[in-house]
Amino acid sequence: MTDLQDRWNTVMMPNYGTPPLALDHGRGVRVWDTDGVEYLDFVAGIAVSALGHAHPALIAAVSEQVARLAHTSNLYLHEPGVRLAERLVGLLGLPARVFFANSGAEANECAIKLSRRFGAAHGRTELVAAVDGFHGRTLGALSITGNAAKRTPFEPLPGPVTFVEYGDADALRAAVGAHTAAVFVEPTLGEGGVVPPPAGYLRAAREICTAAGSLLVVDEVQSGIGRTGHWFASMAEGVRPDVITLAKGLGGGLPIGACLAIGTAGELFRPGDHGSTFGGNPVACAAALAVIGTIADEHLLDSVKRVGEHLGHGLDALQSPLVAGSRGSGLWRALTLTGAHAAAVETAARRNGLLVNAVKPDVIRLAPPLVLTEEDVDEALPRLQSALDEIS
Ligand SMILES: Cc1ncc(COP(=O)(O)O)c(C=O)c1O
Repeated sequence: MTDLQDRWNTVMMPNYGTPPLALDHGRGVRVWDTDGVEYLDFVAGIAVSALGHAHPALIAAVSEQVARLAHTSNLYLHEPGVRLAERLVGLLGLPARVFFANSGAEANECAIKLSRRFGAAHGRTELVAAVDGFHGRTLGALSITGNAAKRTPFEPLPGPVTFVEYGDADALRAAVGAHTAAVFVEPTLGEGGVVPPPAGYLRAAREICTAAGSLLVVDEVQSGIGRTGHWFASMAEGVRPDVITLAKGLGGGLPIGACLAIGTAGELFRPGDHGSTFGGNPVACAAALAVIGTIADEHLLDSVKRVGEHLGHGLDALQSPLVAGSRGSGLWRALTLTGAHAAAVETAARRNGLLVNAVKPDVIRLAPPLVLTEEDVDEALPRLQSALDEIS
């Protein structure tokens, strides 16, 4: 591993720092590093590996598709792409149109360009987004990301964008008006530390956007496709957005993003307005169909709710002066700490055979595969307890 890290340090750009672990292979909710050490994976490639590692359905779908036809570009259509779009629209249960991208940031770029088209048609230029919200690293997605440390080095960014405190419906109401093209919101802040808003916030956002005539774009890149025990976290709140963006868990590890535009928002683009060579690639679409099919066939949404509750109770039962509490839903949880101990907890957990993520200096994020069982939780929590004991 040290050799691989040395080579990494020589050839890779220094934007990530040096990762502490080189992973070699995985199976189910477990991964093994290049030294053969096994870990329970409660990171899942940052809420991506929905079916865990080496799931037979994903292997079969990807292998069959890559053997048949790996790529077409957008000059030609293909059945997996149409079928996946139909499936997503079916899950929404609303008239919608789909654009496929390769990542969450790209799915949001599509939503930003839709907002520009909408704004141009209605004389509106401004976007509204949340302080501490995260929408990606491309310049467009960064322009609506409410984190100064990530934004400032890359200014000037596209705009105008107004940032409001997340979860404060009055602040949102005050910021949104006849000048607002679109409001971008996460159903729960993901990179912000798995922070759910107060009950009713998304519904308030919908009402505010409807009253102002603005688009409501819900970024479900992290929350969507089962993470909270629902296909779409926003729909579970009874909210009908104008645009939903997806990525992460959708491909189960294959790179795919999607922008779903509902109702008239689906008619905003004109031919030539947007595109991607790889977006909606047949292999990525076949993977996404396998992910959605497996979640449905194996009743994983119910399982995520049940196992997620078990995980939440287990986090609340941890005994440590370092722990402040826990929050989140489904298999998307945060352990909040009394101080900036998250990096130390992450490292100690790794030593104890558990991968978790220090998403904030004082917050540990857990976003395990959706195939996680209660037994897996019962195996993981003592490792987390040991980690806390070691450093307190
Ligand atoms: C809510 C949200 N939107 C967008 C993104 C960006 O996705 P990607 O890293 O695939 O570009 C992320 C990534 O963490 C995210 O959590």
